[in-house]
Amino acid sequence: MELILVNPRCAPNVALITLNRPKELNALNLQLMAELRDALRQLDQNPDVRCIVLTGNEKAFAAGADIKQMANSGAIDMFHIDQFNTWDQIKKTKKPIIAAVSGFALGGGCELVMLCDMIVASETAQFGQPEIKLGTMPGAGGTQRLTRAVGKALAMEMVLTGRFLTANEAFSAGLINKVVPVELYLQEAVKLAQAVAAMSPVAVKLAKEAVLQAFSGTLEEGLLFERKNFYLTFASKDQKEGMAAFIEKRPPNFTGE
Ligand code: CAA
Repeated sequence: MELILVNPRCAPNVALITLNRPKELNALNLQLMAELRDALRQLDQNPDVRCIVLTGNEKAFAAGADIKQMANSGAIDMFHIDQFNTWDQIKKTKKPIIAAVSGFALGGGCELVMLCDMIVASETAQFGQPEIKLGTMPGAGGTQRLTRAVGKALAMEMVLTGRFLTANEAFSAGLINKVVPVELYLQEAVKLAQAVAAMSPVAVKLAKEAVLQAFSGTLEEGLLFERKNFYLTFASKDQKEGMAAFIEKRPPNFTGE
C-alpha cells in the first residue's frame, strides 16, 4: 500500500485506515481507491476487526476525485476506466466504517464520507460537492446520498452552487454524527468504533445491512428485509449470550459466532 496506511489494531477490534496523499490533499486517484478497496476487503475478512475508522489528515479528509487524472478523459475513456466499480466494491464492506473528518471533504471526498456508516468531524471540517464549478457534477453518489441525508433544498444548493457546509451546518442538517475540537476528532471516532466493536459482530453486520436497505426499495421491502435479519440473529451464539447476560445481570462476551 503506497497511498494509504493501514493499522489493523488501533484499538481492540478496531482498525484504522489513513488516506495518505497529503501533498494532493488526499485527492482520490485510481490507485488510492484500489488500495482502499483492497484494504477494506482484507479487514472485512479479518476476524479480529469489528469496526473500521477511515481518516485523512488535519487539513483534508479528501479534496475529491483526482482532477488532474481525469481532466483530459473523454466520456468513453471514463466508461472504460469504470472507476465506480471500485466504489461498488467498497460499498459491499459488511463491517461498519466510521469516517473521522477534518478539513476538506469535497466532491468524491464528501461522497466517500457519505459511503461510510457514521461520521465524526472536527470543527474545521468542510463538506461540499463543488463539481459544478468544474463543469461537471457528482458521480459517486453525491446527488443521491446527500439528498437523502440533508433533503432536497440544501442538496440542490450544494450541488448547483458548490457551496461548502461547515461542520456545524453539516451536523444541523443531519449529515454527520458529531462535531468535536480538531484535536479530538480521531480519538472520538475511535471511541465510537469501540462502542460498536463491543457489540455482537453478527448482529452489527446484519443491522448495518438492514439500515442500508432503507435507502433502496420500498418501506414494505425494507421491513421484510429487517425481519429476516432479525430472525437470523437468533441463529447466533451472540444472541443467546447477549440475552443470557442481561438476565444474569452481567456484561456480555460477544465472540461473533
Ligand atoms: N485533484 C487533484 N489535485 C488536487 C485536488 C483534486 N481534487 N485538490 C487539490 N489538489 C492539489 C492541488 O492541485 C495542489 O497541487 P499543486 O501543489 O501541485 O498545485 C495541492 O493539491 C494543494 O491544493 P491547493 O493549493 O489548491 O490548496 P488550497 O488550500 O489553496 O485549496 C481546495 C484547497 C479549496 C480544496 C482546492 O484544492 C480545491 O478546490 N480542490 C478541488 C476540489 C474539487 O473540486 N473537488 C471535486 C473533484 S471532482 C470529483 O470529486 C468528481 C466525483 O464526484 C467523483
